[in-house]
Amino acid sequence: MKAGFIDEEISPDLDLKSEIMRLKKEKNAVLMVHYYQNSEIQDIADVIGDSLALAQKAVNIDSDIILMSGVNFMGETVKLLNPGKKVLIPDMNAGCSLADSCNAADFEAFIRQHPGHTVVSYVNTSASVKALTDIVVTSSNAKQIIESLPKDEKIIFGPDRNLGNYINSITGRQMLLWDGACHVHEKFSLEKILEIKNEHPGALIICHPECKKAVVTVSDFVGSTAALLNFVGKSDYKKFIVVTESGIIHQMQQKYQDKTFIPAPPIDSTCGCNECEFMRLNTLKKIYLTLKYEWPEISVDKSIAERAKLPITRMLEISNNLRL
Ligand code: 13P
Ligand code: SF4
Repeated sequence: MKAGFIDEEISPDLDLKSEIMRLKKEKNAVLMVHYYQNSEIQDIADVIGDSLALAQKAVNIDSDIILMSGVNFMGETVKLLNPGKKVLIPDMNAGCSLADSCNAADFEAFIRQHPGHTVVSYVNTSASVKALTDIVVTSSNAKQIIESLPKDEKIIFGPDRNLGNYINSITGRQMLLWDGACHVHEKFSLEKILEIKNEHPGALIICHPECKKAVVTVSDFVGSTAALLNFVGKSDYKKFIVVTESGIIHQMQQKYQDKTFIPAPPIDSTCGCNECEFMRLNTLKKIYLTLKYEWPEISVDKSIAERAKLPITRMLEISNNLRL
């Protein structure tokens, strides 16, 4: 056993997909998968979605075991919403640079320096940061939730400065921003995107709001992974330059086979796509071994779990009221 995941030799003849199906049935387990996972994992998901959809669906799960194939904060969110269930993750090392850019002690000090503010945190945060938060948002509902607050409400927004700046620009608010970012989305280069646009002038540029302002500014559409997927389905355009983690392209290709999706490359690579190395730690083999041994298991310290759950519940209630 290696730190963070089970490392065991398995027979190359083992049919991992059918073994996973067998174990899920035997143990009454459900497999939840984020859009940034490898295609073969997406293909066997019981529930697949963006951060908001996964949190929403996590509320109504009646299985005994929930295996969250995504990153740690997603597992924590599921655990906070299902404290009595066993929540597993294929690899404990699947962190998130954005969540890591906001340490709870520093965030608490920041909040203290700015009294009288409502604290809104992106879901990409640790449970300890959520415990300091009034309302959690995801990239799917951030705009609507911020707009639902009184216009003169003073707001601290963390940890993503890019998402925060974007929300400020489209809502006219002046939220006080924590200075964090996602290393994957920060790596998109405007130069390379414009080069691709030059080669494909008929393509639309679509990006995730975690991208830098320069990228957001040249994009034809900005949205969460689910919003991007919806947008390409509704659009009359046939070609899209996709500026987010390239895992979402698998869903786009499967749903809209008559359309072309061009992954935007990161600045430091000659390869075609930008992958989150944390998300991509998860594999079919790790999912199989995690189900077999029911480990690694997500746990959230009792002293923070109750407080951390409140802002998530608040987000789900507001989203529900706004029909998001
Ligand atoms: P979504 O809210 O679109 O699922 O994004 C999650 C994420 O980690 C983006 O990097
Ligand atoms: Fe975190 Fe960025 Fe990876 Fe999303 S893509 S999980 S924000 S590091």
